[in-house]
Amino acid sequence: MIFKKGELFCGPGGLSLGAKLAEAVSKDGEIFRVEHEWANDYHEDTCETFRLNICPDRPESVICGDVRELDIEGLPEIDLFCFGFPCNDYSIVGETKGLEGDYGPLYTYGIKVLKHHQPKVFIAENVGGLESANDGRAFIQILKSMEEAGYNITPHLYKFEEYGIPQARHRIIIVGVHKSLGWKFQVPMPPYKNDPENWTSAKKAIENPPILENAFNHEFTNHAKKVVEMLTIINPGDNAWADYIPENLRLNVKGAKMSNIYKRLDHKSPAYTVTGSGGGGTHMYHYGEPRALTNRERARLQTFPDWYQFVGKKESVRRQIGMAVPVDGAKIIVQAILDSFAGNEYPTEPSKWEEELAEMLETGKKAKKKKRTRGTKVKVEASEEQTELELKTEEPVK
Ligand SMILES: C[S@@+](CC[C@H](N)C(=O)[O-])C[C@H]1O[C@@H](n2cnc3c(N)ncnc32)[C@H](O)[C@@H]1O
Repeated sequence: MIFKKGELFCGPGGLSLGAKLAEAVSKDGEIFRVEHEWANDYHEDTCETFRLNICPDRPESVICGDVRELDIEGLPEIDLFCFGFPCNDYSIVGETKGLEGDYGPLYTYGIKVLKHHQPKVFIAENVGGLESANDGRAFIQILKSMEEAGYNITPHLYKFEEYGIPQARHRIIIVGVHKSLGWKFQVPMPPYKNDPENWTSAKKAIENPPILENAFNHEFTNHAKKVVEMLTIINPGDNAWADYIPENLRLNVKGAKMSNIYKRLDHKSPAYTVTGSGGGGTHMYHYGEPRALTNRERARLQTFPDWYQFVGKKESVRRQIGMAVPVDGAKIIVQAILDSFAGNEYPTEPSKWEEELAEMLETGKKAKKKKRTRGTKVKVEASEEQTELELKTEEPVK
């Protein structure tokens, strides 16, 4: 069976490439896979990247424009719908406009697709902080609207390093299966949950195999001398606030000291979260060399293959890479969806809100936290923080 996929907020195609690479075969030999049907994003370079890598034969199937002006009802029919809705707009949740307003919060455009097109299954993605946005009301409202659109939903906080991704990226992903199908998605068990010794390190992802000098998007940054001196002193895993940094190389910053400022990767661990924006000091720094990572190195941490070419200038490419779902993480989730449709079993674990979900949906309120068993704690920081700090020290070489 071929699942035709539509996607809003498609980004550069992290989720899409993962979906494209997944495949399941049922016991009687039927193949289950995903095929791109249409996608939308409003960022020009992002749309070009998606076209170039995901659907070069059908560039017109990527509609570049604001989702608020998209003719949702006129879009072709689909079986799988994906939407990694931006996390910057819950402001009118709970106010009178609600889901029906013309300019609702952006996730409501995904709900419109669900209501109108009724795909068999959907995948929605957002940052871990969604759980607490608007005192937890936004999360529950979003889950409720997905359920009311006709889906059995499975929200879960995926910790991608536990799935072998070389990055401690934590994302809420909600999989919904149409109620008419009569089953619910089960979260695939992370193979390395209690096994941090076997997590994929940043060093392995960046060096194995080596990145060719002429690889796409592999431009180096020309740092100021002082920044190079400071980075040389900072140990892998530490940041600009390490107490051993001499006075003359310390940053003159008042107020909050964000932990990802000039933070160097620890070569033994997965990277902290690759982000797409932020000023000087937030470009993610190499474990072995006193410099920021190149975009190709960031793409490696997001498990994009080296043939995947991002379109645009350096900062635009950084934005695209930082926003994507890690390709291999997306592949694991789509693989589990396809296996479910194919009737294949796979190892599962309870979803984060398994016990509370029914109560949350019924009462519209956060259920009381149940005590849960914790996984092994190890030294990995997954800072989502951004900084306003602008040091004007990082000029592109070209
Ligand atoms: C988190 S990214 C999605 C990444 C994607 N899931 C992936 O794996 O590559 C969100 C995307 O939403 C797009 N976006 C934000 N606001 C939008 C709007 N009003 N209309 C269309 N796209 C929008 C951004 O340009 C960005 O590419």
